[in-house]
Amino acid sequence: MSHEKVYILDFGAQYAQLIARRVREHHCYCDIVPYDVDPTRLKDARGLILTGGPASVYAEQAPHCSPGVFELGIPVLGICYGMQLMSHLLGGKVVAAERREYGHALLDIADSSDLFHEIFGSTPVWMSHGDRVEDAGPGFEVLGTTTNTPFAAVRHSQKRLYGIQFHPEVTHTERGREILGNFLTQVCRMSGDWQMGAFVEEEVAKIRERVGGAQVVLGLSGGVDSVVVAKLCERAIGEHVHPIFVDNGLLRKNEAVQVQETFRSHFEIPLHFVDASELFLEGLVGVADPERKRKIIGHMFIDVFKERAGELEDVRFLAQGTLYPDVIESVAAHGGPTATIKTHHNVGGLPAELGFELIEPLRELFKDEVRTIGRAMGLPEAVVTRQPFPAPGLAVRVLGEITRARLETLRAADNIVQEEIRNAGLYTELWQSFGVLLPIHAVGVMGDERTYENVLAVRAVTSVDAMTADWADLPRELLSRISNRVISEVRGINRVVYDISSKPPATIEWE
Ligand code: XMP
Repeated sequence: MSHEKVYILDFGAQYAQLIARRVREHHCYCDIVPYDVDPTRLKDARGLILTGGPASVYAEQAPHCSPGVFELGIPVLGICYGMQLMSHLLGGKVVAAERREYGHALLDIADSSDLFHEIFGSTPVWMSHGDRVEDAGPGFEVLGTTTNTPFAAVRHSQKRLYGIQFHPEVTHTERGREILGNFLTQVCRMSGDWQMGAFVEEEVAKIRERVGGAQVVLGLSGGVDSVVVAKLCERAIGEHVHPIFVDNGLLRKNEAVQVQETFRSHFEIPLHFVDASELFLEGLVGVADPERKRKIIGHMFIDVFKERAGELEDVRFLAQGTLYPDVIESVAAHGGPTATIKTHHNVGGLPAELGFELIEPLRELFKDEVRTIGRAMGLPEAVVTRQPFPAPGLAVRVLGEITRARLETLRAADNIVQEEIRNAGLYTELWQSFGVLLPIHAVGVMGDERTYENVLAVRAVTSVDAMTADWADLPRELLSRISNRVISEVRGINRVVYDISSKPPATIEWE
């Protein structure tokens, strides 16, 4: 289980995991560690990457790593803040730039060996920095410049230290993938011996070892994350894992039945099914405020789940499909200083209150990586490509007060949206696509009659990780078909609108 490995020192970059993921794309294994890690812990690495971060190296609370990390004889790549800190600690000079440089720049490459192997001339890069390096420090030479940044890429040949002011991990840096790849293969001499298949074996072994003879419960939603975790657990410990599927009455059309059927045909272990729909719907009567809805649903889920888990003996662990974007939106991962953006849904609250130890094998991964793993374990495309669906379900899509009638109206309309998107072959291209029932009425005319009915908003977005999203430019004919069908087939809706807001500043869900 020992792979060649790089460590990523996290200085509070929102995108430390994006760097990790790019490293994995080159089939290299990596671990993210806090910036102030003890250098002796890093000795088994083939290379180190220092991330960017929001601080200025001179700021009082600025995160500094131990200068010892530059003395390990291991290649280091400093990105943005990581580069500035390296210069600052190694005798260079960092100054506040007159204005923040943000966006595209053209990198002129002066040296096309190791880091820029096979990359010649100039190439577009993405910049986002306030401070800049004015002197990289003794022993450093310049590998690349931009108009505003004379030290856009530097190297200390003897110590094998590299710094780049731009961000290779974002897609705006056109050759960023190759530059990171060059660091891994040309500089760190890694062979790329790591595959997602190895992830499965390793996680299965870890789960088996940790759980021993105890029992594990798991909240199964039917989405790819929880199903993949269930599969990993089934492989690791067989009947010692107990997936519990709660119908909260807020699921989509036929969803409860479909999830159970799919489970039965791809698993050998039993699924515990709890129909708690009455309880949830009663608890939501008269509640219109989005946050209150979320809280009520969250608490009820805990109660229901706990009760069912309590019927099982010797349960010590809770397995969850927490992904990296869930983590970064709620806490600073790996103890790094990443700013908290918002308290996210699945993560806050549930585990501590339940009192179980957590098993979260997907915590470091992005959704598309989980899909790769699902495929590697033989799960069907219907599960692997399933779009995300929020835990509070249709409660956050029936805006305002939830009634059974409104849920039924939305179910029927949403089902048409799903069908049409699938028929157009767009389902897997979209991150999510769904209907939202608005809490307003609009005037219309049907036949010779005035109508005063509900409005459906159609939401369809593209995204890689839900942290940002663009509204999807759906074909006009598709929108038109959805609108015609919804208005003619669903009683109670006389108007359909299309949501053209991106995240940020909007969010994907309306509540
Ligand atoms: P927002 O609306 O914050 O959503 O842009 C980002 C992603 O998270 C999903 N979502 C949730 N998932 N529990 C979940 O498990 C929740 O409470 C929740 N709220 C939003 C949303 O569908 C999107 O994929």
